[in-house]
Amino acid sequence: MQLTRTGCALRATSRRWATISNRFHAFNTTRAQSTTSQSATSTGPRSQPEYTRPPGLYLYGLPPGSKQPVSSPKSEGAAAGDTISTIDGKEYARDTQYNVPKQILDHVGRKLYLQPDHPLCLTRELVESAFPSDQGFNNRHEPHPVVTTKENFDDLGFPTDHPGRSKTDTYYVNQDHVLRTHTSAHELKLFSELQRELRNGSHGYTLCSDVFRRDSIDRSHYPVFHQMEGARCWRLVMADQVLSIEERSDKAGIERLLCLQAIREDRDRLPLWRHRHGEPVASHLLQQAALDLKTEDPNPTFDLETNPLQSSHSPVEVELVASHMKHSIEFLIAKVFRQAQNAGIISRSESPRVRWVPAYFPFTSPSWELEVWWQGEWLELLGCGISKQQLLIDAGIPESIGWAWGIGIERLAMLLYGIPDIRLFWSKDQRFLSQFGADQATKFREFSKYPECYKDIAFWLPEPEQDEKAAAAPKNGAETPVEIAVPSGAAASAGGHMSVEESISHPSFHENDLAEIVRDVAGPLVENVVLVDEFFSQKKQRKSLCYRITYRSLERTLTNEEVNDLHQKIRDKIEGQLRVELR
Ligand code: PHE
Repeated sequence: MQLTRTGCALRATSRRWATISNRFHAFNTTRAQSTTSQSATSTGPRSQPEYTRPPGLYLYGLPPGSKQPVSSPKSEGAAAGDTISTIDGKEYARDTQYNVPKQILDHVGRKLYLQPDHPLCLTRELVESAFPSDQGFNNRHEPHPVVTTKENFDDLGFPTDHPGRSKTDTYYVNQDHVLRTHTSAHELKLFSELQRELRNGSHGYTLCSDVFRRDSIDRSHYPVFHQMEGARCWRLVMADQVLSIEERSDKAGIERLLCLQAIREDRDRLPLWRHRHGEPVASHLLQQAALDLKTEDPNPTFDLETNPLQSSHSPVEVELVASHMKHSIEFLIAKVFRQAQNAGIISRSESPRVRWVPAYFPFTSPSWELEVWWQGEWLELLGCGISKQQLLIDAGIPESIGWAWGIGIERLAMLLYGIPDIRLFWSKDQRFLSQFGADQATKFREFSKYPECYKDIAFWLPEPEQDEKAAAAPKNGAETPVEIAVPSGAAASAGGHMSVEESISHPSFHENDLAEIVRDVAGPLVENVVLVDEFFSQKKQRKSLCYRITYRSLERTLTNEEVNDLHQKIRDKIEGQLRVELR
């Protein structure tokens, strides 16, 4: 299976959207009761190692201390005179914040995750099978893609200057509405809906939806993709029904103990827990899941400095809830591994491996990422944590404790079926669609590979303001243009050491804007956009960038004429819309 790191180093957004892992210990040093993300992001990092988001991973943590400004609005998208946009049957007033190209709106309503035998639908069903309704999970989906900025960011504690709010990263329908950038946008609502069920014990949900992010272009990134979220809560107060009058004097203490007991009992029933403790497990589960999964979890469950528990939680509660969550998630991954083994994508001879690494999200603490050992490398797969108490309070369930996770479905499906290009999920080609079915373990067979054609586009960035010149200029004082050696091509760019950040953070240029133009003109006919060259001219006091655009259709051979025409249109738009000078 090939999950390329194509264009990885160009993840303009990577560092800004990336979760913190054990490679990035930069947390607030105060206790997290504090639990707003404001405080979590206010303390500067101890170190800033290069971090490049792996392909296909769309997690939303922001390293505290990251300083990426929320970009100023640029007008685009809305044609003059348009005042209303209709999205999935609902009308929204437009304003200058609008930046949704028609090509993105064309994806709304496809509901691939509900299309029978589609790999995304099969993957959703696999995830749901590990969190089934008979264990208290409502398996849900939310088709309508527009949410308020409050739901997408504020309710979850995203700081006002979080880069995820930027127009370079997010599609705005108007200043108060966005195309949701993650399924967590529905957390508050879904937690509120748990209120009733929680009276009868623990409850949870899974949620599948399409999500939208402006992003760069390669074989594992697409601006519309799918996420699943899972959550579970236990009610801390449940004592009145069970306590005798005398016992009620220590009501609060006893209630918490009862709750702990309930969590422990739920945890002890989990198949993976039972298997690891020598308890019998139903034979169909043994067949469906690689329960010999090996887990590395070397860090303490919480660390007051780097991954704090919340002040409202006791260490024992956090240990138990985390243990329940981790065993539940690992069981899902054990199912994924078994299916991949059955399809011949990975070998049965080695026990599958996963590892937990500390992470950061504004709405969970402590938080983790799960990485899987997949064909010789660690791949980040999901983010999760103990839900912030403020969220549960806002949802009307203050006396409860719970966990939540989020995962990108395309990435899981790419692993499960060996699908090499994320654009394929949108294909209506029967040669793709007919390969998958619920009753078969499937390894994707490439049905044809049409030739690629690449073309470069080079331009000068606008001249930096006077006070930026000193910072931008190389220190060696060379008069002639200084070429920065940038390896070209997909494999080379995986190293993540290009000085792309400089170009990305140039005040008037953002790579996502370039990607958006390319998508707007050429849509799915572009496979990859990668920075292949950059240099600073002392003489001109300007920086030049060169991007390589790889054109390839998944369904036919593109003609030269067609590609030339597309490329010319892209050049024209880039010159017209980005403040750059073509070379
Ligand atoms: N919504 C987060 C993301 O997209 C993932 C997540 C979900 C993390 C739930 C923690 C809990 O990055």
